[in-house]
Amino acid sequence: MKDRNKDGLGRRSFLFRTGLAAAAVPFLSNSCRQGTLGTKTDAGDSFEFAFLTDIHIKPEMNAPKGFQMAIDKVNGLNPDFVITGGDLVYDVMRGNFEKSESLFSLYKDMSKGFEMPVYNCIGNHDLFGIYEESPEGPDHPDYKYGMWERHFGDTYYSFDHKGWHFITLNSLDVTESKRYKGVFHKEQLQWLAEDLNKVDKATPIVITTHIPMICAYSQLNGSEGSRTVSNGFEVFRMLEGYNLKLVLQGHIHWKEYGFVNDRFHFLTGGSIAGNGWKGRRHNTKEGFMKIKVQGDDFTWEYVDHGWENERLKTANTGIEVGQG
Ligand SMILES: [Fe+2]
Repeated sequence: MKDRNKDGLGRRSFLFRTGLAAAAVPFLSNSCRQGTLGTKTDAGDSFEFAFLTDIHIKPEMNAPKGFQMAIDKVNGLNPDFVITGGDLVYDVMRGNFEKSESLFSLYKDMSKGFEMPVYNCIGNHDLFGIYEESPEGPDHPDYKYGMWERHFGDTYYSFDHKGWHFITLNSLDVTESKRYKGVFHKEQLQWLAEDLNKVDKATPIVITTHIPMICAYSQLNGSEGSRTVSNGFEVFRMLEGYNLKLVLQGHIHWKEYGFVNDRFHFLTGGSIAGNGWKGRRHNTKEGFMKIKVQGDDFTWEYVDHGWENERLKTANTGIEVGQG
């Protein structure tokens, strides 16, 4: 049920399709490229897609204006589709039903402005009612993944595009002390094994996860706790022998690239919202990733959607607070 190639939307899923690409936009010149990846360039299909993460939409702080700027920028670039990296809203972890529902509705309504399909990923701020301070609890039908599933469908799924296989994972669960934790739960790993069984070993694979599977943040900053999923290694083991190309990650609100052992690449995709729409987080400018695929290779660049200039005009600045 989690193969979006079969029914287009999957069970209870909601995929925004408001239009199709009208004209190809040439990829930017080599001078703009931030990475040239892969080992060979085959003739064949080429396409582009955008990766937007940590949107943190809310009515305050001119956030809808900033998100609309990102949508307009994406539409101007005209990629085949958009993948989001989680934390679509800010936030529903602590919220009551009405407020939380209004945030997801705001995201859904605004996302209809994308002129191409959008494949959403769940983030920690999208988990409904999980915190102690929420007036709702585990007995609510929308608890944890429920509200997200009702609006967007399965929290993990896959789809194919022009010979590449895209897998979106749910990297979140809840601790006994009612906090979120980064983990791939067992049921999902069973599904992933079944999904990979259907994939040719030569097919390029892209994984999307909100909580990173690899990240240097803690090593660089000495912060407590892990910023990565606790069992990412299980997914990497399952992908041994497959043509894993790229892991797309969110959550940290910073930009990070790595190439592991000549095997696969990872990108942590900055953020749309920066520091809660008030400024850069970790000195990373607000933006998103544009990825161009050509044959078995890809290149990437970080695109500024103009929010920094806009928020400086409107004095949308503030002290950094925890909004990972
Ligand atoms: Fe976030």
